[in-house]
Amino acid sequence: MLHKVLIDTDPGIDDAMAVFYAALHPEIDLVGMTTVFGNVTTEIATRNAIVLAERVGQNIPVAKGAAVPLVQTPNPVSDFVHGTEGFGTMPPQPIQGRALDEPAHEFICRMIHENPNEIILCPVGPLTNIALALRHDPSIASKVKDIVIMGGGLDCGNVTEYAEANIWNDPHAADEVFAADWSVTVAGLNVTSQVVCYPSDFEHLEQASPVLGGFLNEAAQFYLDFYATLHEQKRCCHMHDPTALIAITDPAYFSVATHALEVIVEGERIGQMKHSENPDRKEHKVLMKVDSEAVKKQFMSTIEGGF
Ligand code: RIB
Ligand code: CA
Repeated sequence: MLHKVLIDTDPGIDDAMAVFYAALHPEIDLVGMTTVFGNVTTEIATRNAIVLAERVGQNIPVAKGAAVPLVQTPNPVSDFVHGTEGFGTMPPQPIQGRALDEPAHEFICRMIHENPNEIILCPVGPLTNIALALRHDPSIASKVKDIVIMGGGLDCGNVTEYAEANIWNDPHAADEVFAADWSVTVAGLNVTSQVVCYPSDFEHLEQASPVLGGFLNEAAQFYLDFYATLHEQKRCCHMHDPTALIAITDPAYFSVATHALEVIVEGERIGQMKHSENPDRKEHKVLMKVDSEAVKKQFMSTIEGGF
């Protein structure tokens, strides 16, 4: 089956892993990328998305998205995790192309209307552009095939005890996305933090696929150094964003629970994704368990098949 996927992204090192996976996977047609703040500013995210498209040598349109959250004051970017320019210590990479003139939320709506019931949205950053697309044209809810989100998680967090970064960076947008009458699959920390990469994995990718694997290996060094500060100096990192893409190509690797969801938008627990008691909210799929070895193998073999 060929999945038509539109990735909304804040590249970002694990975002680069996700984009290369999608571009190389034979069952994914990566129809576009939209950009958002989070790991870096939207300006840098847009350049970086074009860098990734040009590295894989595919004509993937990139539309620039929102620069700030819907309501809250922006949090600082996660440069301490992904580096000042988003790809570790790499300086800004040269690009040939440019972003579309169309803003991200309009591009999302147009792609859904031009491909009714075919587009899978895969947001791997804050959900601002997705909420703006819904506000711009609520009819997309019945025309999108699926929304597979890297974000959130039940009873877990990474920026606070309660909140995951993508939801925390725009909790109001995430709550609007969970409130809409469409089907969402959450690939959150419950599963993504179970999938771990080591320095030897990135070295292996560079040997097997010098251009794309080499890019990931270079970028990942900073990411591994950051994770070492969290894990008693052990250099290993979570495969957050690629896991959401693998939930599209290989759903059998995951177990699913269904819950109506909401997001806490103020106070100590701001950014927490939780069960909703609101009877008007539709149930969504939350991925709870994962065959982490199978997911990692799937990622490695796909990137190894690159160049
Ligand atoms: O919490 C992990 C998520 O936050 C990933 O999408 C990562 O790229 C950052 O945006
Ligand atoms: Ca991301």
